[in-house]
Amino acid sequence: MNDKQKYIKELAKKNNAIILAHYYVADEIQEIADFLGDSLYLTQKAKEVKNDVILFCGVNFMAETTKILNPNKKVIVPDNCAYCSLADNFDVLDCIEWKSQFNNPYLISYINSSTEIKTISDIICTSSNAINVVQNAPKDATLLFATDVNLGSWLNKKLGINMKLWNGNCVVHHNYSEEGLKKLIKENPTAEVIAHPECTENILKYANFIGSTTGIINYSKQSNSNTFIVLTEEGVHRKLKIESPNKTFLFVPNQKLVANICINMKKHTLDKVISALETLSPEIKINEKVRELAAIPLERMLSISI
Ligand code: 13P
Ligand code: SF4
Repeated sequence: MNDKQKYIKELAKKNNAIILAHYYVADEIQEIADFLGDSLYLTQKAKEVKNDVILFCGVNFMAETTKILNPNKKVIVPDNCAYCSLADNFDVLDCIEWKSQFNNPYLISYINSSTEIKTISDIICTSSNAINVVQNAPKDATLLFATDVNLGSWLNKKLGINMKLWNGNCVVHHNYSEEGLKKLIKENPTAEVIAHPECTENILKYANFIGSTTGIINYSKQSNSNTFIVLTEEGVHRKLKIESPNKTFLFVPNQKLVANICINMKKHTLDKVISALETLSPEIKINEKVRELAAIPLERMLSISI
């Protein structure tokens, strides 16, 4: 640990704070996390935490989910401008209008959605539990799926169903270069392709395995292959190498042939973590009535997730 990281640990102890971080944040932030994981794991941990303060290093909807599920804790973030193209481009009024077009709608919302969208959702899912959540949905309802069209299409195909899909996408996973992928496959013919379901169908068709960030990490660990072509944000590389130090992980460029980075996840820095722990701000605040409504579909999801 460097001096800043040591200081952060001291500050966290002094404030009885715990640090949660997603795999996509910078390595130096992952290194100071008490809990590091994918969206489902972090949501489950968020609810269990007993500390007075939770410092959340991820995008805003993740920190908001933490506050929704553990309202008596002070939830702070290093940078409160960490947006997500899925969560922040689906307006609640558009969602109400969309829902009203269907008979007996049942809205399954990806956890990458705003707090407002959660208040009008029937259940939430993450990429880890989406199959299970959709399979548990009422059979007589019109199933609507938001916010990611690629995850929704993948679920429709895999389960042989026809959920109505909202046409949102992730700026990172929606824009992989098929040419870049084909080139890597050609250069590494024995490599396995492992992908996040937020990728487009023309990319997913090459995948040997499709799953959440944790699913990708676990799959590469137990596989006999030594080389993997990875289609998710490059922050997972640290954990992939920790779990499988002797394996090689190659990352696919986006359509502009540059690295695929979630710039919002990278907004968190050690200096901003220090500032957040020194000032206990910026703090996530949610109107109590809104929070109660948003908690309902999240709790429903947690009740059927292992
Ligand atoms: P995971 O739930 O797989 O961690 O994915 C979160 C995310 O934002 C993917 O882009
Ligand atoms: Fe959102 Fe995409 Fe970043 Fe994930 S990678 S947080 S879906 S913008």
